[in-house]
Amino acid sequence: MIVNRPRRNRKNENMRSLIRETIVTPKDLIAPLFVIEGKNIADPIKSMPGQFRFSIDRLVAEAKELQSLGIPCVSIFPVIDDKLKDSFAKEALNPNGLYPRAIAALKEALPELLVMTDVALDPYSSMGHDGIYDEKTNQILNDPSLEILAQMSIIQAKAGSDIVGPSDMMDGRVGYIRNSLDKNGFENVSIMSYAIKYASYFYGPFRDALDSKPRKGDKKTYQMDFSNSKEAILEALLDEREGADILMVKPGLPYLDIISKLREKTNLPIAAYNVSGEYAMIKAANEFGWVDGKMCMVESLTAFKRAGCDMILTYFAKEMGQFLN
Ligand code: PBG
Repeated sequence: MIVNRPRRNRKNENMRSLIRETIVTPKDLIAPLFVIEGKNIADPIKSMPGQFRFSIDRLVAEAKELQSLGIPCVSIFPVIDDKLKDSFAKEALNPNGLYPRAIAALKEALPELLVMTDVALDPYSSMGHDGIYDEKTNQILNDPSLEILAQMSIIQAKAGSDIVGPSDMMDGRVGYIRNSLDKNGFENVSIMSYAIKYASYFYGPFRDALDSKPRKGDKKTYQMDFSNSKEAILEALLDEREGADILMVKPGLPYLDIISKLREKTNLPIAAYNVSGEYAMIKAANEFGWVDGKMCMVESLTAFKRAGCDMILTYFAKEMGQFLN
């Protein structure tokens, strides 16, 4: 006789729904969006089907649609004209640049929608690096980068950013940014630190979108070695101590073990970044007819929550929002 028959709890959809442990809702999602200069532009990103570089007017329209699907937050990345890039990333500190204007336009049109902003130099750096690149030594300079990152955060906060997201992986930047924000009266601006960010090959399509591939070298002296997990916890707990409000793990799907380990070590909310390469893989396989892309999306996003995430940055936000509505 078989006493235990786990299949009884799966016998039909109603039974399955009673025992279901994890449910994703639009409220868990953050939509990354790309902004570019111009008017009425939605320029498709080839390696990310369904994603666009939007001019500010179209960015606002897209954000409005996301909000109407119940998505609480967007995360913006700027596509900077090559002519404005240099090795010091000076354009990052232009208070009238594309990025602050985009943030202000979003906050004006949609005051309730949370706007998360990216703090790193790569979109503005002629070298495609996240910190200052020293041409003499071929090094990314840590401490001199901190002040620029802090200035960037203040400009973003002034423009209306609700959450700044340092994605640069310089040491000490969370504490430095927290301190600078507070000194300038922005103690209510949150920090979601890209706490555990690996030097990943899954960022390819994002670098296409921004044309931000490193021109020299790679990012392995600041982003993490994908072989390591103890180092990941160390990084995250440092950011917690420095004042991060939310800890992010990036990329997502190949690092569910890291999310689940981090869940045991912190009581802060955890975010995952389901990055461009992860999105592109599902989209590509779907286009070949090799997988059911929509259900792979639902399964992947559910896996993040099951692993212990509170929120997910994902290019699937809109599609998932539509699916759930
Ligand atoms: C860089 C940054 C990257 C992403 C977000 N911020 C790429 C990189 O480190 O080169 C990647 C996101 C994605 O792949 O979707 N500050």
